[in-house]
Amino acid sequence: MVRHFLRDDDLTPAEQARVLDLAAAFKKAPLDHQILSGPKAVAVIFDKPSTRTRVSFSVGVAQLGGYPLVIDSATSQLGRGEELGDTAKVLERQVEAIVWRTFSQSRIEELAAASAVPVVNALTDDFHPCQILADLQTVREHKGALAGLTMTYLGDSANNMAHSYLLGGATAGMHVRVAGPEGYPPRADILADAVRIAEATGGSATFTTDLAEACVGADILVTDTWVSMGQEEEKAERTRVFQPYALDEVALAFAAPDAIVLHCLPAYRGYEISAAVIDGPQSVVWDEAENRLHAQKALLAFLLESS
Ligand code: CP
Ligand code: NVA
Repeated sequence: MVRHFLRDDDLTPAEQARVLDLAAAFKKAPLDHQILSGPKAVAVIFDKPSTRTRVSFSVGVAQLGGYPLVIDSATSQLGRGEELGDTAKVLERQVEAIVWRTFSQSRIEELAAASAVPVVNALTDDFHPCQILADLQTVREHKGALAGLTMTYLGDSANNMAHSYLLGGATAGMHVRVAGPEGYPPRADILADAVRIAEATGGSATFTTDLAEACVGADILVTDTWVSMGQEEEKAERTRVFQPYALDEVALAFAAPDAIVLHCLPAYRGYEISAAVIDGPQSVVWDEAENRLHAQKALLAFLLESS
């Protein structure tokens, strides 16, 4: 059966650990696993802007011996409303996998349902699971392990990153605390899924409006933009409501003394994160950005070898 990666819990805890092991191996020996030699092609399609995802999938597919076919949907028939099922049937005849950044989760689910090759979520409005794999790789590098660590996410507690930390962190056996304002809780079904997963892995998943309670003793502090792609018109209101949840020196002081700081980037200094924190000694954001490359190569290898 073809394996897709549409949300973080599409990988079991054991599979997630395997992908992270493979990511570490790829980091040591980037050209060792030429599973796409030929070159075989991977389609990488964008309905929204991207720097990191575009570069890391392009370089990653090339390092696997393959050919990255990067498509902006606005310049393809997808942008003119071609049916997703028809798009899948065309692409699967010529590429080994389809990586897609789009808006609603239902669109990527529809594409995946019609595709005979693996479909990878490169960010939707609901999830950003490739980013979490890179983040977990980064945490493992700096902390040695994942299970039992406390990872606190501050800010837009209802966005794709919050949801993916809940699912991906719970899968890794971490204690995931999400903190944000009333009116912006994580989606109830996603939080419930994370709680259920955490019960089996020994982790936990919680939402609170209390920043101090969320940050106390945390091993990892993380945030994301307050204005996700597609929400630009809400910038003023979002800046107002999320302001108390900025990842700044005050928030960091509540965390464990050796806490590390993550941010998926792009970052907006002076908004969701202070310059002193993101550019300070506890920040590991550049390792995190690099690990997109290694983690996604590992994911592609896993999906292709398991399908
Ligand atoms: N973090 C991330 O996905 O960055 P891009 O939007 O630049 O791809
Ligand atoms: N939450 C952000 C993540 C960007 C990588 C967005 O969706 O725009």
